[in-house]
Amino acid sequence: MDGNKEYKRLNGVKIDEKDLKERLFDIENIVVHHKRFTDLYDMIRDCHHLNDRLVILGDTGAGKSTLFKTYELAYPRQKKTRIRNGHTIRYESVPVLRVELAANSSPLNVASKMLESLGEPFYNKGSEKVLTGMLKHQMEDSEVGVVFIDEAQHIVASDTQKVIYKAADWIKQFDNDVKIPIVFGGIKEKAKRIFAANEQLDERFPNKQEFNVFPYSNPDEQKEFRGYLKGIEAKLPFADRSSSKIFDPYLAGKIYYASLGTPRTIYHLLRHASSKALKDGSDMLEEKHLFEGFDLLSFVTRPKVINPFDEKVFNLNVAMEKENLKKP
Ligand SMILES: Nc1ncnc2c1ncn2[C@@H]1O[C@H](COP(=O)(O)OP(=O)(O)O)[C@@H](O)[C@H]1O
Ligand SMILES: [Mg+2]
Repeated sequence: MDGNKEYKRLNGVKIDEKDLKERLFDIENIVVHHKRFTDLYDMIRDCHHLNDRLVILGDTGAGKSTLFKTYELAYPRQKKTRIRNGHTIRYESVPVLRVELAANSSPLNVASKMLESLGEPFYNKGSEKVLTGMLKHQMEDSEVGVVFIDEAQHIVASDTQKVIYKAADWIKQFDNDVKIPIVFGGIKEKAKRIFAANEQLDERFPNKQEFNVFPYSNPDEQKEFRGYLKGIEAKLPFADRSSSKIFDPYLAGKIYYASLGTPRTIYHLLRHASSKALKDGSDMLEEKHLFEGFDLLSFVTRPKVINPFDEKVFNLNVAMEKENLKKP
């Protein structure tokens, strides 16, 4: 078989609650190491080990945070001890420090968040200067080897040039002081403004990579997208998952249309559809489940979207035109 987890056969009997919960949890944790993912993973590793800097910006839902989380998992935190002034001190080594900024973060909030993640009890107490100073020490003590600042666009709390400049300047100073590799992630247009605001910062981070949703306009791109679906299918929580054929051109084209190549939408679609299938006692995913799953998605930005999973042959170009979308 494919070496992945085996699932109990349902044979048409509705799945029980506990099993359903476990299987949906498994779907949530599927990570496909597709080409762009692996390429960027390797770049992060280089950045980490060669003490460099990296910026990864892209469409929302493309998989940036998933990539960072996957990297973090490969370098787990460890409880250790060290001797200091004759005393044995226990500490946690944190090889990868990853924070995801919340909306409207100021540099103070960013420092505070990193301190919290490092287990500093007083992460909330003090000025920006105090917390930034504390952070530098805490990072050394915790042996942090690389920092991920995800959703970096949120460090720009307002659109005023002054706020943007101040944030950029803080990052520059932080980079100066901690001298460890930093990886930024965020939404392209918004995060770019931070670098645009400060030329010195921009020059320090020359390596800016894009991580976007899947394109689907030529045979190579279509193959790549189908490969991604195949990777997901191999891990779907069904006894007969390989009969699902979600990567066949027939279903892949429909899934592309439904998601416009966005992994997040694909996840929601497959999760809803799988839930329907499992409640049906099905041991594979069928198009009718995708039909039902699709109806549970929200398409606020696509009022004219149609459900493509109607078991009829589907013409992607025609459907895209009807919605006034650009051909893929
Ligand atoms: N490589 C991947 N393999 C499987 N699922 C993925 C992958 N990348 C993204 N996803 C799915 O898409 C969702 C959104 O991805 P996320 O990493 O949060 O996107 P971003 O941070 O770029 O907005 C994830 O929760 C996951 O369900
Ligand atoms: Mg994210």
